[in-house]
Amino acid sequence: MKELQFNRHRRLRGSETLRAMVRETRLHTDDLIYPLFVAEGENIKHPISSMPGVFQFSLDHLGAELDEVVSLGIPSIILFGIPLEKDAEGSQAYHDHGIIQEAIRFAKNRHPELIVIADTCLCEYTDHGHCGVIENGQVLNDPTLDILARTAIAQAKAGADIIAPSNMMDGFVAAIRYGLDEAGFSHLPIMSYAVKYSSAYYGPFREAANSAPQFGDRKTYQMDYANRNEAMREATSDVEEGADFLIVKPALSYLDIVRDVKNNFDVPIVAYNVSGEYAMVKAAAQNGWVDEEKIVLETLTSMKRAGADLIMTYHAKDVARWLGAK
Ligand code: PBG
Ligand code: ZN
Repeated sequence: MKELQFNRHRRLRGSETLRAMVRETRLHTDDLIYPLFVAEGENIKHPISSMPGVFQFSLDHLGAELDEVVSLGIPSIILFGIPLEKDAEGSQAYHDHGIIQEAIRFAKNRHPELIVIADTCLCEYTDHGHCGVIENGQVLNDPTLDILARTAIAQAKAGADIIAPSNMMDGFVAAIRYGLDEAGFSHLPIMSYAVKYSSAYYGPFREAANSAPQFGDRKTYQMDYANRNEAMREATSDVEEGADFLIVKPALSYLDIVRDVKNNFDVPIVAYNVSGEYAMVKAAAQNGWVDEEKIVLETLTSMKRAGADLIMTYHAKDVARWLGAK
């Protein structure tokens, strides 16, 4: 009798040891960047209702949180500031004693080895909630660049290790690179939110950061989620302007874009596993509908498989715990 011929892929799946030996992608605690919301004021540890486990912290509560992050082996945080006072041009973003600058100083002082990334945008600081200055209901590009560069320099002076501009104005990397170099910070890397889509997945973040636009939306500056080629144009500009890292955001519905960017640009790629992605998983897990640990590890591993070198995620502390226990 003639033997049936076919490939036996299952040979490599026979045991966990063998599966681990042939595993192509690994998630590691070194890959994680943990976002933190720092509020101006005292005695604040305010839970974000749509993001269970995430809080706004005032500086007097931030220390304990940072200690936990460091003790879990997470190498890096990204800071978002929530000021008490907002104005039309977001001046608290670049004030030397603005909340973000104070938070950077505090974090670097307490944990010098922790890599502190500063999110560089204006929407948390403007009274209208847009990421740039407004005239006649329009977000102005070039006048916003000056404020953004000032903000980056103030963050650098406070001790930030990496500047992460997220406002999606054209030329923001060039303006910040120029400003940092002039101010003596040519050694500081820029992690650009190069490919940032206008997304409903940011909903919970806007509660966390008090940064919802008071009118209109962000569609004149953030990208249309239907577009893929445009991501290449955005990433190309930012690399030409001097970006040291490229962020793709959101992550989960955009893994095709993560792969495109990885294949076309030879800089570290960062996927931002955003607030809405976190909220969906948390809600389902709290209902007992999915296994939180398994689904989070699968999701983040898929981001690495798609090409992400680093992942910004609100799950970072849990992931570090789960990976540490393995
Ligand atoms: C600010 C900013 C946003 C996020 C990061 N930086 C919100 C937005 O652009 O509206 C979203 C992060 C998240 O949803 O987790 N420009
Ligand atoms: Zn913004």
